[in-house]
Amino acid sequence: MTAKILYGKEFAEKIKESARQGVEELKKKFGVTPGLTVIIVGENPASQVYVRNKHKTCAELGIISQVVALPEDTTKEALLAKIDELNADKNIHGILVQLPLPAAIKAHSDEILNRIDPRKDVDGFHPVNVGKLVIGTPALVPCTPAGCIEMLDLAGIEIDGKRAVIIGRSNIVGKPLLHLLMARHATVTVCHTHTKNLAEVAREGEILVAASGKAGLVTADMIRPGATVIDVGINRIAPKKLVGDVDFDAAKEIAGAITPVPGGVGLLTVAMLMKNVVKAAKLQCEMRNAQCVMRNGDC
Ligand code: GUN
Repeated sequence: MTAKILYGKEFAEKIKESARQGVEELKKKFGVTPGLTVIIVGENPASQVYVRNKHKTCAELGIISQVVALPEDTTKEALLAKIDELNADKNIHGILVQLPLPAAIKAHSDEILNRIDPRKDVDGFHPVNVGKLVIGTPALVPCTPAGCIEMLDLAGIEIDGKRAVIIGRSNIVGKPLLHLLMARHATVTVCHTHTKNLAEVAREGEILVAASGKAGLVTADMIRPGATVIDVGINRIAPKKLVGDVDFDAAKEIAGAITPVPGGVGLLTVAMLMKNVVKAAKLQCEMRNAQCVMRNGDC
């Protein structure tokens, strides 16, 4: 039996609709329109496409969006100063520094990302947000793994009690997804480059998430019959050819449900970013209101 194909578009539309409603509620309740600033340094063509897509989606949903495009030779100090300026701007609720940074400042990526006010960290990469996720009080959660959970929920795939296997231990996908799945009561195994008998371990997964960044790593023999396979990989194998980490054609004959690449879970990442911007704006409005009450209305 061929697997059900989980196309990202319909799920992304539902998530964007809920973000659009969130924007309306913020306007009504606080008189505030959420605002996102994306900083892009240099001219990486893939990053430029991603940033344009974020900007366009904001416009669709009524979120104010600003793109700050800085030259390739921007110094760490100049970038930190820009982040400080945005942190202090109360009309900006979300700040995102597009990765990867140019080679000259790449080594400072952590210092740069950690400078973003955690309340505005719509990527969910700041150690404060990572810590909150780990201890079970999530605030702003990384968009791609949050999109995986949202997709499972919207597709009606049970997580509670399931065996989940994640291939890949990155800070952006594998590690946050471990905590998100564990919080939903899955039994989770994280595999990586040193995992022995990868196929055998992967085959335990009733939910298998491929996030290794290696085209074709996940072959049909690594899939438990009937499993839900989520392919987070985006690998460019030719100028106009993107593939995931999973050998899709073979895997769909074994899996119960599977996401394609392109057109799968990747489409949910931008939608989840929009939700994070709305969430960040809501938290900031509520905090400002609470501070105002504490000062007896002296806002
Ligand atoms: N580059 C590729 N994916 C991402 C992401 O999720 N966030 C940021 N900031 N940059 C990226």
